[in-house]
Formats: sequence, structure tokens, C-alpha cells
Amino acid sequence: MSTAYAPGKAILFGEHAVVYGRPAIAVPVGKVRACAVVSPSPGGTGIMLSAPDLKRTYPLSQAAPDDPLGAIVSNTLAHLGVTGHPDLTVTVTSTIPIARGMGSGTAISVSIVRALAAHFGATLSDAEVSALTFEVEKIYHGTPSGIDNTVVTYQKPVYFVKGQRVETLTVKTPFLLIVADTGIASPTHVAVGDVGRKWQCDREECEAVFDRIGAVARAARQAIELGQPAKLGPLMNDNQALLQSLGVSSPELDRLIEVALGAGAAGAKLSGAGRGGNMIALAPGTSASAVENSLVAAGAKGVIVNEVS
Ligand code: PMV
Repeated sequence: MSTAYAPGKAILFGEHAVVYGRPAIAVPVGKVRACAVVSPSPGGTGIMLSAPDLKRTYPLSQAAPDDPLGAIVSNTLAHLGVTGHPDLTVTVTSTIPIARGMGSGTAISVSIVRALAAHFGATLSDAEVSALTFEVEKIYHGTPSGIDNTVVTYQKPVYFVKGQRVETLTVKTPFLLIVADTGIASPTHVAVGDVGRKWQCDREECEAVFDRIGAVARAARQAIELGQPAKLGPLMNDNQALLQSLGVSSPELDRLIEVALGAGAAGAKLSGAGRGGNMIALAPGTSASAVENSLVAAGAKGVIVNEVS
């Protein structure tokens, strides 16, 4: 039996603009994770896919072409050179909230690739794991930038520019991030599609916003690498204002952001595609529990305190 885990993730800076070639920063959130287990099955079953959280078990041969579980298993087996239909079961479970911008589908894919590789005694590089996962991201997202598969695979803070070499970040001074869930599911492709339509209508304005978001991400990188987390709060607030101008925030996100700032957060913004999903807040000094408690009291559906290091 082979088991592999993959963490959730949060985008710190640069979502949406990253789809248009600007830099973004994402960090792993290890307090939630996906798990894949590959185990031998009784003879003759072929490959079974099992997702107990969704109460689903089905043969790979019956997976629809756009089924992400089927796709990642088939693509990985092809990549590993496994032919035929070995008798095995791939079981996936996850504590990562679904469709909240925390990379739930991505983490499932990464854990499956690594568990299958371990099962067949293969060693895959991070680049191979990330590339296999990216192919399946297209089913969820349409036009993914690649940031999700990169941060979840490398399990380190990343500075990401589409199409460029992966850069992991060294965090000189660790800082605390509070991740709070609006409870509203927000499929990434919907928000990304809306920004795309806005861009079609007014390219000049959108490109200018993307440039400003890119500048925020570059400044944030410097603050992280130089050990100046206090600078990140205002940058998060700037990034949020720019995301609002793109139309991807929501009243629920805005409210939780206001609550976090009121409780002492140094900065706060939506994280991921927006419209729902999660917001993140930077909690300086001893403010983490005050921020956390205020978000819970304000009705956040889940709050995670995550050290970025
Ligand atoms: O998967 P999410 O919800 O974290 O969104 C990813 C971030 C976007 O920039 C909105 C899309 C992308 O592919 O980078």
C-alpha cells in the first residue's frame, strides 16, 4: 500500500493578474491536506477509484473523459509506462474545503501522482508531478496559470510567473496568516471567465490594474525575502482594492476583511478566484487569536491559522 499527502494552498498576492503574465506569490497551507492511498485489489477488478468523502466508488474504465480523478490516474499511469489494467484501488480523502481557492482538486491530483509513483517504485521529479497535475487543472479551470499545481507540488512559498522557471522563496522572518472561509463555493473558472470578459471590453484599464497588482507582488517578494513582514499588510490592502476594481470581491469577503482589520490584522484580502471562497489576514504580534475569534464570531465557516515560513 502506498500513501501520499499534499497540502492546501493560499495565494498571498497576484491572483487573476497572474493569468495575464504578472507575478504572484502563493504559500502551502499544511493544516489541511489531501491524501491518496493506492492499494492492491482482489483479482479482476481492474483500477477502482474511490472517493469516500463523496460516497463514490467506480471503475476507471467508467470514468467520464472530463472526470479529473480518472484523468490524473490515466495520465500518471501512461507517464509511468504502466500498461494494462492492474488490480488496484486509488482512494482519495481530503480535509481541504472544496471550491474555496485552497487548491483542493490540485492537492488530490498531486497526492494521486505521488502515491501511484510510489506504488510502481518510480521516482518523479517535482517538475514532472507539477506538469501532470497542470494538465488536469485545465479540466477544473479552463485556463489555469499553473500557480496552484506549482505551490502544492513544491510545498514551499513560490514566486510564480506563468511560463517561467519555478522560484521558491526563502521567508526570512516567519509570519502568521489567518485563512477564513466565507462558506460560499466559488468555481475558479467562473471568476476567471468574468475577468476575461472585462478584459475583452476594456483591455487598457485591466492591463493597468494587472500592472499595479504585479508591482504589489514584486514589492511583497522583497519584503518576504528581506524579513520585513510588517510591509506586507499595506500591500495586501492595496492588492484587495485592485481585486475589487476587477469585480472579484463580494459583500461577504469585504465584511470578513473589515472584521479582520478591525480586530488588529495588519492587512487582509481575498485569496484565490474571489466571489466567495477564502480571505486571508496578516496577524502581527499577538493579534492572531483576536483576529481568529472575531472572524469566527462574524460567521466565518472555517478559520485556519497558518505560519508562513
Ligand atoms: O484556484 P483558485 O481559486 O485559488 O484561483 C487561482 C488563482 C487565479 O489567478 C484566479 C487563477 C489562476 O489560474 O491563476
